[in-house]
Amino acid sequence: MSLLYVKITEKPLALKICDTYFRNYCHGVRENHMSKILGLEGTAWNLSAAIVDENEVIAETTATYKPATGGIHPREAAQHHANNVSDVVMKTLEKGGRNVNAVAFSQGPGLGPCLRTVATAARALALTLDVPLIGVNHCIAHVEVGIWRTAARDPVTLYVSGANSQVLAYRKGRYRVFGETLDIGIGNALDKFGRFAGLAHPGGPKVEELAKKAARYIPLPYTVKGMDFSFSGLTTAAQESLKKNDLPDVCHSFQETAFAMLVEVTERAVAHTEKKEVLLAGGVGANTRLQEMLRIMCEDRGIRFYVPEKRFMGDNGAMIAYLGLLMYRAGYRTALSDSRVNPNYRPDDAEVVWR
Ligand code: ATP
Ligand code: FE2
Repeated sequence: MSLLYVKITEKPLALKICDTYFRNYCHGVRENHMSKILGLEGTAWNLSAAIVDENEVIAETTATYKPATGGIHPREAAQHHANNVSDVVMKTLEKGGRNVNAVAFSQGPGLGPCLRTVATAARALALTLDVPLIGVNHCIAHVEVGIWRTAARDPVTLYVSGANSQVLAYRKGRYRVFGETLDIGIGNALDKFGRFAGLAHPGGPKVEELAKKAARYIPLPYTVKGMDFSFSGLTTAAQESLKKNDLPDVCHSFQETAFAMLVEVTERAVAHTEKKEVLLAGGVGANTRLQEMLRIMCEDRGIRFYVPEKRFMGDNGAMIAYLGLLMYRAGYRTALSDSRVNPNYRPDDAEVVWR
């Protein structure tokens, strides 16, 4: 058994998890028939394991990587995940029980070193528990957890996080990307601007707070091309603007400009698809001004607007476990030979087998 792990993972980390697990928890007993999935998330800064069933989050444990200086260093973040994954998994199994039906993990998109570390742990755990492995698309997990935790059923989703900014909607067997960033994600744009202005990482929430103290709006580049948008020009212009203007005014103007771009594209996707719901997903979705602007647009069009609880917006293990559960029930399994991570895994590459 150990040899098999070594061959597949070539990582002592896997052995560590397996050994501890065998010693402490693995009794090989299935206690009930309700689907229960363990999900592992670790695409970037947040390492999180959760166990969910159809109704609730049974257990969730998180360890957050905080860079000493600057933004996320992929190798440092991966080292953080390697150091903590054993503990995070053990705590989750202790709280949530060991009788899970499958182990789900983020197969991509994300930072390569982080993805590989967490995938190694997921493979080892699935082999140890003798349950199937399910590789999930991280972006779709943000969408599905939002549908689970709100009354939304078939929304146009604005998914806004650090690395990603996309407008998605389900159509003919896939989540289609109706619009997306042509360069950096809105979260990374806010964080980059924040760092330039001397704010600690992540800058997004600090920019939101400062924006509330603004006295005026300063025009900044508004870039929507077709159904896509772009944030790097805006970020550079906002940084430049700090030479002549107060930080709260620039924060406010940055937000107003960037969010107006996002709302415009979301509205056009709604008009095109004729869907009656908008869902907000991803870490930047915690921003109350973005929520307000989307709510106004939805009220104007007479459609419903949904925002999940904040804990389900940023990266979390529950969303991976929940999408794993949907896929598990639909009969989807990931063979070890297909479990390689994909840092550029697009949501429209994944076939939606569960709807
Ligand atoms: P993904 O892999 O999906 O790109 P991620 O690793 O960027 O995810 P998330 O937790 O989805 O992680 O999003 C983190 C981002 O959310 C950071 O860029 C952070 O600045 C931003 N953010 C968090 N809260 C707020 C807020 N209130 N306003 C604006 N941005 C915010
Ligand atoms: Fe995310």
